[in-house]
Amino acid sequence: MRAELLLSPRCPHAEAAEEVVRRAFSDAGFQRQPLERVYVDDLDHAAGLGLHGSPTLRIDGRDVAPHDGLPISLDCRMYAQPDGTQAGVIPAETIFEHLRAREQEAAELKAARARPGLGELLARLSRALFLWASRRDSLERLSMALPFTRALVRRFVAAEDLEGALEVLRRLEATGLRWTVDILGESVTSNEMAEAAADRYIATLDALAGAGLEANVSLKLSQMGLGIDHDFCQRNMRRVVRRAAELGAFVRIDMEDHTVTDITLGIAREMHADYHDVGVVIQSYLRRSEADVEQLIREQIRVRLCKGAYDEPVEVAFQSRAEVDESFARLMERLMRDGRYPAIATHDHRLIEHAIEFAQQHGIDPTRYEFQMLYGVRRDVQERLVAQGYTVRVYVPYGTEWYPYYMRRLAERPANVLFVLRSLLPARRG
Ligand code: FDA
Repeated sequence: MRAELLLSPRCPHAEAAEEVVRRAFSDAGFQRQPLERVYVDDLDHAAGLGLHGSPTLRIDGRDVAPHDGLPISLDCRMYAQPDGTQAGVIPAETIFEHLRAREQEAAELKAARARPGLGELLARLSRALFLWASRRDSLERLSMALPFTRALVRRFVAAEDLEGALEVLRRLEATGLRWTVDILGESVTSNEMAEAAADRYIATLDALAGAGLEANVSLKLSQMGLGIDHDFCQRNMRRVVRRAAELGAFVRIDMEDHTVTDITLGIAREMHADYHDVGVVIQSYLRRSEADVEQLIREQIRVRLCKGAYDEPVEVAFQSRAEVDESFARLMERLMRDGRYPAIATHDHRLIEHAIEFAQQHGIDPTRYEFQMLYGVRRDVQERLVAQGYTVRVYVPYGTEWYPYYMRRLAERPANVLFVLRSLLPARRG
């Protein structure tokens, strides 16, 4: 890997910028990575190198922080920091995201070069393994007891408590991102747990409104007691939705596995009849989704479209990536044309590009839909879309019941595990 720090000779941020880069490399497991300083002394030289401000970190010819239309310049370049301030150093988080994206691209390329079907087969196997693990109580107890898992989980889980979550939301707000808050927990087995979960959602809605932050939450029916009793679950939901209505908040009902699709859509419809700002989720991997989308368009219920995160049998769900993506694109087009403010929930750059192009070709204004992504995933893409004027809502989970959520994130991208584990080991590469 070739890493260059491009600087104008008088850049006052050179030392600090280099220090952050070296530390970020080291934390990511690249302790011995050389960093070359490249001095750029006039505008012609800057134009030749494509320098849009000093300092600029470039890895294998690609700028770690895209310049997003800044002019060619030798001036100092300021970078938005995670705490909302501006400084002349590239944030370590941005460097991490870039390294992670490189890892993923390399892995994807390798998989694509493998024998046809083998990459996908392995991905499916590892996905099935993690999703199986997500349902094992014994593994949950074990991993929650391991000291280092907390550090790994922190990437995807904003905080353990509400206070911490509010801090994260303020940081997102400073970068122009929006959010929907998820309180971790699902498949509860007692009335007390379900009622406590509903209480926590009500307290969270109150806290968001009280702090002047957008009140938008996502919840799961299995957390509200669906596995215990349908009517009991509905009563808990009604309590949450009633408070949301009082506050003018939005409630999204997440979609769980296919055994509860009908029930979830049914409860969403009932809640929506009482209060307009209740939405639901459609999974493009389900074969039934086309019919569900048509019905939800007729009812003008807001839909979040995602690929789907559970292990589903072939009878009900597409299994190949190509079919799931094709279905996503089709459903997305229907929702963008006629749905009520759909949420396009994916990190898949091809589908995001497709959405943008489709909207442009059909005169659909960016205010008529939004993108949604998960906390801790493709922050670079989130920020780039915001800079381009799109609404991006981040799904922000908080709480201590992170195990199944975390396992689903690993199932989506096992390379995550390798990346973090590697950063814990002594470096072997430069
Ligand atoms: P895909 O898996 O093809 O990934 C595309 C790219 O995104 C990857 O190449 C990688 O760069 C990045 N990426 C994706 N997942 C990653 C991860 N875990 N770690 C690191 N990088 C990753 N599902 C469900 O069944 N019910 C629901 O209610 C919801 N709700 C929901 C809300 C929101 C806001 C989002 C974004 C997603 C969901 N999901 C969900 C999850 C969804 O179904 C799906 O599993 C994930 O979004 C991953 O699929 P992608 O569309 O991102 O594509």
